[in-house]
Amino acid sequence: MTDFDLPHYQAQLKDKKPMPILKVALENFDNIAISFSGAEDVVLIDMALKIRRDIQVFSLDTGRLHPETYRFIEKVRTHYNIDIELLNPDPAELEPFVKQKGLFSFYEDGHQECCGIRKVSPLKRKLAQLDAWITGQRKDQSQDTRSDIPEVQLDTAFSSEDRPLIKFNPLLNWRSSQVWDYIEAWQVPYNELHQHGYISIGCEPCTRPVLPNQHERAGRWWWEGENKKECGLHAGNIIDKKK
Ligand code: ADX
Ligand code: SF4
Repeated sequence: MTDFDLPHYQAQLKDKKPMPILKVALENFDNIAISFSGAEDVVLIDMALKIRRDIQVFSLDTGRLHPETYRFIEKVRTHYNIDIELLNPDPAELEPFVKQKGLFSFYEDGHQECCGIRKVSPLKRKLAQLDAWITGQRKDQSQDTRSDIPEVQLDTAFSSEDRPLIKFNPLLNWRSSQVWDYIEAWQVPYNELHQHGYISIGCEPCTRPVLPNQHERAGRWWWEGENKKECGLHAGNIIDKKK
């Protein structure tokens, strides 16, 4: 990435729709990947393939995803004929943690430790090899932590001094209903959990369906307070807010 003019593109992409943001991302960076959660962010893959065929996609396989999500990841892989890299936790971190604290310690002392091992560490390993990444974050997902995210940013959580990492959030200005309009219009495959009341989908023990008119994040880590509902993947949202 050496000469990516971040302030220029931040101004140019302000309030833009997903496609122009994705275009800038995929046209400026070769070493860039889509971070795919196995939920409605599948639209990023569908859109990116309309720009170029050789996209890189990865998912964090925490080992605790729903069977439906594993089936969906496989469906996306075959439907689009793409590789999806599954990133696993490091056994040297995971095994002592589970041995000491069991499989459900997050209900007792919070999700940060488990997310740190199962999601953030593998993500860190992957991001260290990339110049930029693309996420499906949207402003409407969280008033507390996502309402200020920009179209493109320096990832303050995962950049190192000698290696800046750029982060694109092409869906940020879309509401959930716009994502679903796209899924319907383009016949995009979706996770079958969405047919059973799930909106935001994470790991199985930490996700539950929501009731009509409940906010989607209410179904994630529901035993914890609203402002704690970030697992570290988007830690920059919190770091940047504190500045
Ligand atoms: S989370 O931080 O609360 O888990 P959320 O489910 O809202 O994140 O998803 C926002 C974006 O984070 C997704 O669109 C995706 O880019 C990334 N993401 C979340 N979970 C994963 C995952 N398991 N694998 C890869 N990317 C993920
Ligand atoms: Fe662990 Fe739950 Fe975080 Fe998944 S969402 S990594 S199971 S704490």
